[in-house]
Amino acid sequence: MSGHTWTTGPASALAGEIVVPGDKSISHRAIMLAALADGTSQVEGFLEGEDTRATARIFADLGVRIETPNASRRVVHGVGLDGLREAARPLDCGNSGTGMRLLCGVLAGQAFASTLVGDESLSRRPMGRVTEPLAAMGARIDTRDGGLPPLRITGGSRLRGIAYATPVASAQVKSAVLLAGLYAEGETEVREAHPTRDYTERMLAAFGWPIAFEPGRARLAGGHRLRATDVVVPADFSSAAFFLVAASIVPGSRVLLRAVGLNPRRTGLLQALRLMGADIREHAAREQGGETVADLEVRHARLRGIDVPLDLVPDMIDEFPALFAAAAVADGTTRVRGAAELRVKESDRIAVMAEGLRRLGITIDETPDGATIAGGRLDGGEVDSAGDHRIAMSFAVAGAVARAPVRIDDCANVATSFPGFPALARGIGLALAET
Ligand code: S3P
Repeated sequence: MSGHTWTTGPASALAGEIVVPGDKSISHRAIMLAALADGTSQVEGFLEGEDTRATARIFADLGVRIETPNASRRVVHGVGLDGLREAARPLDCGNSGTGMRLLCGVLAGQAFASTLVGDESLSRRPMGRVTEPLAAMGARIDTRDGGLPPLRITGGSRLRGIAYATPVASAQVKSAVLLAGLYAEGETEVREAHPTRDYTERMLAAFGWPIAFEPGRARLAGGHRLRATDVVVPADFSSAAFFLVAASIVPGSRVLLRAVGLNPRRTGLLQALRLMGADIREHAAREQGGETVADLEVRHARLRGIDVPLDLVPDMIDEFPALFAAAAVADGTTRVRGAAELRVKESDRIAVMAEGLRRLGITIDETPDGATIAGGRLDGGEVDSAGDHRIAMSFAVAGAVARAPVRIDDCANVATSFPGFPALARGIGLALAET
């Protein structure tokens, strides 16, 4: 595959203060709910990444006026629940599973037809997990064989509420069903065996939609309206994660990450790293836009391998590439189980991380739902990120403690979630060159 190549070399102590960009999950949802609301909403701290910009572009194609007065701000002129209009072309979600799955829920409730398409990676990702419950609500959605994109949503269906127990822990599935529920007759309920991030529920409440929710359960009924609301997007914990690992593993480091979102359904990595012996302190915890944020101070610490507790898995599902990097240089063995979902992310994250770490001299055994990683010393070498943003950034961090330079291929997709990563990384002392 094509794309940028990065080279990272051994780094000396990392130091400095960083503000990472806005939360991806919240940025997608802010555009969606603001577009469907009555009135004008301001979104501050919007993630200027390819994934979230794709979502904003799609709503523009659906007739919503969205202004960008300056970077990381959007002014969304909502059209109301029934104000979207048919797009003249297929709606391109790019690399974004969140965009496609949540939009599928929104578009299932429209009077018109839509087609959702994505890039090569997204076109391989399972959509049956959303099209099946939406079909049970009365939607008509065609997929390619195996439930793969493109998704052709017929529209014009009368939706009815369902009670749905999600078979996989997935905030995207839960959100797609709840968003379709806005357009459904009667009550829609989603139950989850493992609670997942609750941003859709919180934001629906903030936009004035009556919703009852608690961990593992959310319930709403159709027939209400969304009221324009300003949204302040906190810094993305998943972007902070790379620096939490980097400063933990590079001797002598001290890095401060400002105002990071600490929603408990996102911070499993913080707990896992602490179990490994990491020195991460939270300062000045405060509320920002309905979410808790805090400054995270990370100092180098000697890490040891752990068995990652099963109940942490959904709360750190996006952080496993970073965790694998930490485990590769920890003392002893780290075991990951219960994480089969990693195989259907932007890449097969178990296989791609295992392949790359092996190339750098680490012993790692894959299982269908995880891996056993024997911590050791990383050699230099060449690894492939498989076009997966989080894999590229994880190897960029691991390379800081390798014996020799690590070359990482196919890094262009880092722009989907964290376009400024290389510059911020260099700013605290990572030796990262881009070609
Ligand atoms: C997300 C949910 C998670 C996560 C993704 C963002 C969301 O996906 O991996 O990066 O914003 O709802 P799943 O719902 O597939 O677990």
